[in-house]
Amino acid sequence: MDKKEVPWSGRGHNYTKTEIDAVIEAMTQADPLTQGTHLAEFEKKFKHYLGIEHAFAVANCTNALDLAALLSGLRNGDEVIIPAHTFCATAIPFARTGAKIVWADIDPQTLVVSAETIRPLITEKTKVVVVVHLYGLMSDMESIMDLAKEFGLLIVEDCAQAIGADINGEKAGTFGDFACFSFHGAKNMSTLGEGGMLVVRSNELASPVLGLRHNGSRPYRGERDQYWKPAMSNVESDIDGIWPYNFCLGEIACAVGSTLLDRIDEMNAQRIARATRFIKAMRDYPEIVFQKMPTGFKHIYHLLAARFDSPKYGKSNDDFIRLMSTKYRVKVIVQYYPLYRYPLFIKNGFGEANCPNSDAFYDNMVSFPFHLWMTETDFDYMIHATRAALDELRR
Ligand SMILES: Cc1ncc(COP(=O)(O)O)c(C=O)c1O
Repeated sequence: MDKKEVPWSGRGHNYTKTEIDAVIEAMTQADPLTQGTHLAEFEKKFKHYLGIEHAFAVANCTNALDLAALLSGLRNGDEVIIPAHTFCATAIPFARTGAKIVWADIDPQTLVVSAETIRPLITEKTKVVVVVHLYGLMSDMESIMDLAKEFGLLIVEDCAQAIGADINGEKAGTFGDFACFSFHGAKNMSTLGEGGMLVVRSNELASPVLGLRHNGSRPYRGERDQYWKPAMSNVESDIDGIWPYNFCLGEIACAVGSTLLDRIDEMNAQRIARATRFIKAMRDYPEIVFQKMPTGFKHIYHLLAARFDSPKYGKSNDDFIRLMSTKYRVKVIVQYYPLYRYPLFIKNGFGEANCPNSDAFYDNMVSFPFHLWMTETDFDYMIHATRAALDELRR
């Protein structure tokens, strides 16, 4: 097979002509350019896609997590359970509240947290549990919601990597009290590089979101003779002691987001088909171990990550990654350093954890380039290169 190069890409997918036309239309016609009809349409279509009541478009998923952290009412002295194996944005908004982060371990086979890994961490101070559907595979939400009921906890689903994933048809983001989605440039669908959505289950917790999202900007109540006095709109916050933010997503991003929702399932289907092909092609290589998918779970493969189970051959994931990048020019990477190992978290008092599965996975992991715009020829080449590299490492 000809030698090629497969980069690690920061672009999850390309855009169709329909999506480009939607951008041009909004760019040339939208008035206003933020907080207008495209925002309303995007939120409406998103609510329909998930079958839920309250969704708020925001500038990114971190903002959605910030709002979930604020609305959870976390304070100094409270505890919040968060997976250690995830992107830092899952935890930073909760650290900011002053609550104590308690790190949850992943299940060694599914690579996401479970009711079993969360339960021993619950104390009288626990108020919130954040669950991350990492790489595109959901945690077992039914047993986690049972736990939430048993202990009276709020559940936040970090769905940044899981739009369209489901468990027996019940989509990611429809289980918890809050769900946070990302439309960052590398994600399964991107609103031009940045974007996010906050889903809130209860009417009560949803009602303050509009004020918090846009500098407390609210229409004045009641009729006014002179609409311009004292100003076009009022400034109010619905939660005492919390200053509002500006987390708005502009109209052009919303226009493309609405259009992308029409084909997110199709894009996910392409990812699933490719991942299935790759995993099958590695059948004779048990040293590459992929996430275990429980029955009824739909994995949407935001990423294609695996453990390089190397002791039998005395080789490490470093050996594999080095060979793949230097000889085959395929840029495999390692992701999600357990958060308690970062200086930022250690310095702030969150360096303690008992997460042997997170450590063991991180220390042996490999993550293959998996952007949707990769050509079929390059994808075939990556399969060929991976098998050849594994053969070589066995010698
Ligand atoms: C698991 C996870 N949570 C949160 C985020 C933050 O998303 P955003 O970049 O949209 O703020 C990301 C990705 O960037 C992520 O992968």
